Amino acid sequence: MPLPVRSFDAVIVGGGGSGLRAALELARADLKVAVLSKVFPTRSHTVAAQGGVAASLGNVEEDNWHWHMYDTVKGSDYLGDQDAIEFMCRKANEVVYELEHFGMPFDRLPNGRIYQRPFGGQTRNYGERMVSRSCAAADRTGHAMLHTLYQANVKARTHFFVEWMALDLVRDSEGAVVGVTALEMETGEAMILRARATVFATGGAGRIFSASTNAFINTGDGLGMAARAGIPLEDMEFWQFHPTGVAGAGVLITEGVRGEGGYLLNKDGERFMERYAPNAKDLASRDVVSRAMATEIKEGRGAGKDGDCILLKLDHLGEETINKRLPGIREIARKFANVDPVKDPIPVVPTCHYQMGGIPTNYHGQVVVPANGNPETVVPGFYAVGECSCVSVHGANRLGTNSLLDLLVFGKAAGERVIRDLGDDGAAGRELPRDAGEFTRARLARLDGQKDGERVAEVGADMRRIMQLNCGVFRFPDLLVQGVAKMKEVSERAGRTGIGDRSKVFNTARVEALELDNLVDTALASLVSAQARKESRGSHDRADFHQRDDANWLKHTLWFKDGNRLEYKPVHRKPLTVEPFEPKARVY
Ligand code: FUM
Repeated sequence: MPLPVRSFDAVIVGGGGSGLRAALELARADLKVAVLSKVFPTRSHTVAAQGGVAASLGNVEEDNWHWHMYDTVKGSDYLGDQDAIEFMCRKANEVVYELEHFGMPFDRLPNGRIYQRPFGGQTRNYGERMVSRSCAAADRTGHAMLHTLYQANVKARTHFFVEWMALDLVRDSEGAVVGVTALEMETGEAMILRARATVFATGGAGRIFSASTNAFINTGDGLGMAARAGIPLEDMEFWQFHPTGVAGAGVLITEGVRGEGGYLLNKDGERFMERYAPNAKDLASRDVVSRAMATEIKEGRGAGKDGDCILLKLDHLGEETINKRLPGIREIARKFANVDPVKDPIPVVPTCHYQMGGIPTNYHGQVVVPANGNPETVVPGFYAVGECSCVSVHGANRLGTNSLLDLLVFGKAAGERVIRDLGDDGAAGRELPRDAGEFTRARLARLDGQKDGERVAEVGADMRRIMQLNCGVFRFPDLLVQGVAKMKEVSERAGRTGIGDRSKVFNTARVEALELDNLVDTALASLVSAQARKESRGSHDRADFHQRDDANWLKHTLWFKDGNRLEYKPVHRKPLTVEPFEPKARVY
């Protein structure tokens, strides 16, 4: 039996910030829009974003988009595409004010303007000193943003498919994307959602690591679907380790704590960041701070009974400030670290937080692949936004609060582009291929028919252990080579997983097995890309190649699942309207 089909103008896969922002643009243009989400949209991982959204509003002190652009290019270790970075930084104020007008409950300054706080790597006057650029709703900015966007979508009559998991892309014979297959978790039935435009907004894949700030839903579904359909993944070697995950639990403690004046201490009570980044100190960019913390621990200056964590001190901010600006942090510290930060420091460790790489796109959100001699040929009908995409504004290292900005700017831009493309495209759109859905049916049949298969939990645990050990904050050549070999084995095992529970209704074992396919492709892409890049840049720090090597490696990596192979493409070093920022030594 062929899979049933439903048709839409646009299908958005993912109900987080970027998906909701794109959906809103489309629904307000009276298009028939469906948003597919594994969880109720307000439970998407954007809800966990804490410290703020970057925009050079200049509410606290002078600021401008060009300083923001400089910081972002420098933060990216010059791997970011400067046209996209200019686009994002120029649009920042507009999208933040728009959000304010949708009803976003930002904190306020005494004069009524949006409250802004300093964040890592965000400076004024091209690095002169830190600037307050992060627009915040206490330490629950993502939560407030997600609810605001969801409500705006309800008003605009966006159609939500809640607790649906997208399984595979559907491409026609010319390679255009014409929709996705998806599983309704409640019934266990699969369906084809045909769309004139398919927008991936599936978020990150931080669950490939054992220690992660990411939600359990962050399983790289968009990356796996894209890779299986022949789309390469860009810059997957670059994973951000957030300096302050609660030790042992992984839960995020916002950089906003350091923005408000908190700082890190080693076991001797030393404020060690003064040694590593004399100017920015605790507000250096995340790759720098995470490496400094890992070095302190490695060299025996870690705190805690096992010497394996660092202490985040904020009691000096006072109870009133903590309750007003960082209430969620106090709650998290009490629940997950058993300390009250009003009195005691929070034990923290660098924890996997964000993927800089993803599905290659241009700054209109269109997915681009190498074809016919052009490294950036648009795939008709296919768009990607937010963390699953690589536009690439974050390059080798993202600055804090640029992710909420990225999802607003590029969610909106992709929505605008879809409206334009659908206008150009005529009314009907492309037909489904005759074999649409067959690939998905075969995957499901394999899983349900597998006898004595590999256990999903065991394969997943092995994958996470390998990533943690072989592809962490510091990367060693032998561990990378070993990691690639081990991950290939894991990938083969993932092709033989079996599940005991064959029931249909809310079969979470089946969902986890399908998620594992996506996680493992993401992990393999990351290791293979990391092993190949023989330099240190941003979050990718190799013990055997300590320096950045612009002569050979100022280029983006593209990993193809087919053949497990790599290609490279140039960085866009030319901005849209201003002079480029040329690579130079990156110090904070
Ligand atoms: O630290 C934080 O609040 C995280 C923000 C971000 O990743 O942008």
